[in-house]
Amino acid sequence: MAIKPIEYRDGVCRMIDQRLLPTEEVWRDYFDYQGVAEAIRTMVVRGAPAIGVAAAFGAWFGARDIDEEDFDRFFARFEKVCATLAATRPTAVNLSWALERMKNFAKANSSYPVADIKIVLEYEAMAIADEDIRVNMAMGRHGQELIPDGARVLTHCNAGALATGGFGTALGVLRAAQLAGKNISVLADETRPFLQGARLTAWELQKDNIPVTLICDNMAGYLMSKGEIDCVIVGADRIAANGDTANKIGTYTVAVLAKEHGLPFYVAAPTSTIDMSLADGSLIPIEERDAREVTHCGDKQIAPSGVAVRNPSFDVTPARLISAIITEWGIARGDYGEGLKTLMSRVR
Ligand code: MRU
Repeated sequence: MAIKPIEYRDGVCRMIDQRLLPTEEVWRDYFDYQGVAEAIRTMVVRGAPAIGVAAAFGAWFGARDIDEEDFDRFFARFEKVCATLAATRPTAVNLSWALERMKNFAKANSSYPVADIKIVLEYEAMAIADEDIRVNMAMGRHGQELIPDGARVLTHCNAGALATGGFGTALGVLRAAQLAGKNISVLADETRPFLQGARLTAWELQKDNIPVTLICDNMAGYLMSKGEIDCVIVGADRIAANGDTANKIGTYTVAVLAKEHGLPFYVAAPTSTIDMSLADGSLIPIEERDAREVTHCGDKQIAPSGVAVRNPSFDVTPARLISAIITEWGIARGDYGEGLKTLMSRVR
């Protein structure tokens, strides 16, 4: 079974510190919403679905610690807790999706005593965590049909178990292909500047005996031109209603290369990553992160002090470059406007 990066038990949320992988496996304990917010902001936990799961537990901690008996006063304070958690990272919509679900759950039960609502909110957070794994497994069953036996698959960033409640989105599809008896191998882009591919994808695939070869980001085009890559699969942080997809910086470049070489480019993401309120990808907020991620590699400075730096953490791949979007409710292709609407209408 693939790693679960977030474990919850008896009021303690344990998360593996993803900043220290692959050389150190350190688990950290969180007991309050401020701690969870800091863990998301500083990338102890990262990956769109995983930060949604972590935020749900943060929201539960926040709710538990609100000392109000009147629902309206409780809810006003709960909204502030959720706003703090939501502000930690702007691009991945799973974060606000999970927090909206926690708020809606509280509102739907507003006629009950606040003490009882707090108890069921804990279960709602646990349900979000458990469901994410089941959703990924369903996505895997749909998506593995697209992966031929013997495929050499390129992936970017980490859309694996570490980025989710467990099992993974893009890597979940590859896990499912392997479970279906297919002989697949993965090429992992290192994914500068934060190196999620080198540090996390390589680590989790190696751990699970899925053949993986690490490459630098600028090697993908060459390997495609030599016929060494059969398809590409990535995750997503937010998908607009027309299928435009935000994912880790560099994904767009890979999609353009795949188009040039006539290779399928697949996106695997749960429906909680689809934001039907945004007409297209130009409306997706793109997080800019600390310049230090670019000027340093770990603790080592690799650029002159004071140099100007840009560090957009995500880019948007236009829908026209995407061969299919794989979700737990099925696969959308071609006209994503219609396809995503149909899949979203199946979500309970
Ligand atoms: O900055 P990160 O590490 O949170 O970015 C993660 C990604 O871009 C992943 O590809 C995306 O969240 C999909 S995860 C299943």
